[in-house]
Amino acid sequence: SSAEDGEREKLIAAHELTAKFYHYLLKNTTHGQEAMNYLRSRGITDKQIDQFMIGYAPPEWDMLVRFLEKREFNAQRMEKGGLLIAKQDGSGHIDRFRDRIMFPIWNRDGKVIAFAGRILGEGQPKYLNSPETMLFNKSRNLYNFHQARVVMRKSRRVVLFEGYMDVIKAWSAGVHNGVASMGTALTEEHATMLQRNVEEAVICYDGDNAGQEAALKTIPLLEKAGLRTQVAVLPRGIDPDEFIERNGAQTFIREIIEHPVSSVKFKLIYAKKNHILLEEEGRKNYSLEAVGIIAELDSPTEREFYLKELSREVDLSLESLKQDCYLAREKKHKSKPQRDNNDNSWNNGRNEN
Ligand code: UTP
Ligand code: MN
Ligand code: MN
Ligand code: MN
Ligand code: MN
Repeated sequence: SSAEDGEREKLIAAHELTAKFYHYLLKNTTHGQEAMNYLRSRGITDKQIDQFMIGYAPPEWDMLVRFLEKREFNAQRMEKGGLLIAKQDGSGHIDRFRDRIMFPIWNRDGKVIAFAGRILGEGQPKYLNSPETMLFNKSRNLYNFHQARVVMRKSRRVVLFEGYMDVIKAWSAGVHNGVASMGTALTEEHATMLQRNVEEAVICYDGDNAGQEAALKTIPLLEKAGLRTQVAVLPRGIDPDEFIERNGAQTFIREIIEHPVSSVKFKLIYAKKNHILLEEEGRKNYSLEAVGIIAELDSPTEREFYLKELSREVDLSLESLKQDCYLAREKKHKSKPQRDNNDNSWNNGRNEN
């Protein structure tokens, strides 16, 4: 409705103004100086601060309340829009974000629709994000999508990161097609949104367990949406932003971004970590798990390629691995229609009724 449109427009205007306000406060106030020092210590430059409109929300309780009231924005509406919080006793509003580094979040038209606020240093929560509002839906927005879109379309490729800092650092390292989901796993909606712009996705998540497990979950989502998917693997425990800080932009591009592994290879590497190949059981179980992963590939050439590699790795004949792969594929195909049919996939596709 047009009333709703008006509401949205007002809220976008408020977010746009607020982003400029925070950006100004970061650069021009004493408190902002502390935030600036923090950003510097993280290797963020003035150029990045401007390009990503990074700002600072001061510790005061009502800085933004007063700022918005002076400009005749209705406080209750701004509360519904996520910028303010109602006081417990009903006597008015306070700012949602206080004493935090502010990252504006844009929609695909480049309008500010939400914020993420990082604490300076240690503390919980590390990032405070805007709630879901009439403007902001986490499962449909990707950080930096509006800026990354140009290069995404040109290169037919997107790089997926976990964090804001990763996107920003990677951008200055020359990765201009990087986006991140925000405090949530990648969704089907995200995948669809990407599929409209690219053919290929490179997952570049943190090198910790959480990151690698998230990558495993993201792969099938992207592939189901029709995207070719690769994984750029980081050293243990390091995230892209840290990698760039330690090793520089060039090394990041050369060693990480330009050397992704296929999604299958990534799954194989991951599976291997869970088995001790020096032990008989471990070697056997890994072999079977690996065959199961390879069996999911539709191309016989690709299957043969990975089976050969596996055969060398676990020192088993290609012949037996191929046979198991064939069995795994048969099982998969037979159980597929059964799944719709009811739940007798347990008896391996045989229908005895
Ligand atoms: P990380 O914990 O990996 O943080 O969370 P980070 O991005 O590396 O942050 P820095 O470098 O320490 O500043 C990855 C992402 O998960 C979301 C954010 O989107 C973050 O960028 N997150 C994390 C939250 O939303 N809230 C949190 O408290 C923590
Ligand atoms: Mn600026
Ligand atoms: Mn992490
Ligand atoms: Mn991280
Ligand atoms: Mn980080």
